[in-house]
Amino acid sequence: MFADRVVSGMRPTGPLHLGHYHGAIKNWVRLQSEHPCFFFVADWHALTTHYAEPEVIGRNAMDMVIDWLAAGIDPALSTLFVQSRVLEHAELHTLLSMVTPLGWLERVPTYKDQQEKLADRDLSTYGFLGYPLLQAADVLIYHAAFVPVGEDQVPHIELMREVARRFNHLYGREPGFEDKAKAAAKRMGSKRSKLYFELRTRYQEKGEASSLESARSLVEELQNISKGDRDRLLGYLEGGGRVILPEPAALLTEASKLPGLDGQKMSKSYNNAIGLRESPDVITKKIRTMPTDPARVKRTDPGDPEQCPVWQFHRLYSNDDTRTWVQNGCRSAGIGCLECKQPVIEKVIAELEPMRARAQPYLDDPTLVRNIIADGCDKARAQASETMREVRDAMGLNYA
Ligand code: TRP
Ligand code: SF4
Repeated sequence: MFADRVVSGMRPTGPLHLGHYHGAIKNWVRLQSEHPCFFFVADWHALTTHYAEPEVIGRNAMDMVIDWLAAGIDPALSTLFVQSRVLEHAELHTLLSMVTPLGWLERVPTYKDQQEKLADRDLSTYGFLGYPLLQAADVLIYHAAFVPVGEDQVPHIELMREVARRFNHLYGREPGFEDKAKAAAKRMGSKRSKLYFELRTRYQEKGEASSLESARSLVEELQNISKGDRDRLLGYLEGGGRVILPEPAALLTEASKLPGLDGQKMSKSYNNAIGLRESPDVITKKIRTMPTDPARVKRTDPGDPEQCPVWQFHRLYSNDDTRTWVQNGCRSAGIGCLECKQPVIEKVIAELEPMRARAQPYLDDPTLVRNIIADGCDKARAQASETMREVRDAMGLNYA
């Protein structure tokens, strides 16, 4: 079983930049060597806001996957796929919609926030309201344990936990659940079974999360056990019934420390971004023309790094010596701004150079990317269809 599976998606609405790298993808690259990871192109989610410009999605989806590969996502470690090619996500979305109260969706903060922020788009659609529920289907269908997301997405994870809980409550109850769970525990063998009950008591009486964790891994590691019994043993730990859809947890990604070239959040629409596959010439030009502390009008005017976006780049990229050199040189007007930017230019170029190199074979032969995605879709579909069999069963759809 995959007690620690990670699932995350990204909307293909524009080219990726350094902000995406430092805010999300760098974290994915780390996670893929610690967990089984599923990363996907959330193209249906892109359509919730870009339904009137469908060409945007095709233009960006493949490039986004190339950017992931360039940044170090390794298809041998991670499963990469496209949401719209695993139709089971849509089926689960539909079935979950039967049990999701409208108020839960209307209360998700991003619903109103984004409608106001993207006022030039008509987002009073059914699809946009259902955005977090589709996201719930994306995650629950793989029994994910963790979802790496930024702060803004935490309410979406909360919603999917509530939906999973409601689903399990509605469909995980069965006649004689407790007896069946106890019988399953007996079949674990006496030593394991004793440990299982001890851990369960420690969790239920003292609320020890670590006991719950240990008991879960004990159950996950069991071999020769039916799916139904495993779900019962997991469900019995927490009281309720069978856990058909386990609740995932948010893995909060620290916000990117890297602002845009002008000090605002890095974003393509603010025109302050450095693309992940930008050439050294363009990188150099962009950083050389970056605004600096407005107080430094002339070379001889002292400045304050705190007022300067270049300093934020030094905080991410430079060592202590360089940072001291910046602090002293800026405040005493001992260095010029172009001089100050040079080490940043070098670091950014050095960071992006291997990415350009890794992207090249995929640009030369897009079949490679298509094959990676086709493989990933197959793997994802195999897992998703297994979950759907149980969900259909639980919801009474396996008749005749
Ligand atoms: N809503 C996410 C975002 O805007 C993208 C997304 C779609 C996602 N489905 C997901 C993220 C499932 C994590 C898990 O960033
Ligand atoms: Fe910014 Fe460096 Fe110029 Fe100071 S010297 S204003 S930190 S670019």
